[in-house]
Amino acid sequence: MGFFDDKQDWLAEVFSMYPPEGRRSAVMPMLRKVQEHEGYISPERQQEIARILGTTATEVAGVMSFYSYFQALPAGKNHIQVCATLSCALAGSDELWDELVQSLGITRGEVTPDSLFSIQKVECLGSCHTAPVIQVNDEPYVECVTKVRLRALLEGLRAGKKLSEISLPGKSGHVVHERGDEASI
Ligand code: FES
Repeated sequence: MGFFDDKQDWLAEVFSMYPPEGRRSAVMPMLRKVQEHEGYISPERQQEIARILGTTATEVAGVMSFYSYFQALPAGKNHIQVCATLSCALAGSDELWDELVQSLGITRGEVTPDSLFSIQKVECLGSCHTAPVIQVNDEPYVECVTKVRLRALLEGLRAGKKLSEISLPGKSGHVVHERGDEASI
């Protein structure tokens, strides 16, 4: 059974937001729908979306590649993305990655046995001035991350807290902020 087979009303509503010639723009809400429900977007789902939109799975995968939120591999409840681009690498993101691998016992493409965590290296998240930066799911960034702050973050997530409920040590002022806001550290 296809993911969208029983979601025809939802599809019709989404398609109504676009002119017929712009129907392929619905790829974004469709990808988000699958990601939200299944935690990742398998090759089968990519093909299904392509078939519905009259495009190719390669095009769908191309769109996905621009957004680290969209996962092609199974993801945990908390999908932790570590920026590995230059500013963050110079500020210690490799060490943060090693800490995650060691602490969680997984690497890219794996999910912890309790389904709580998966990890991924991503390209620049656009907050280089607060490097190193990580992001959990599509939540606001966690910035100026140190190993101590990372451990506190994992502890909070393991306890079932939301990101906004977790207090991170080591910096005063804001510890997370919305994309594009000024950091206060
Ligand atoms: S290099 Fe990491 S946010 Fe830009």
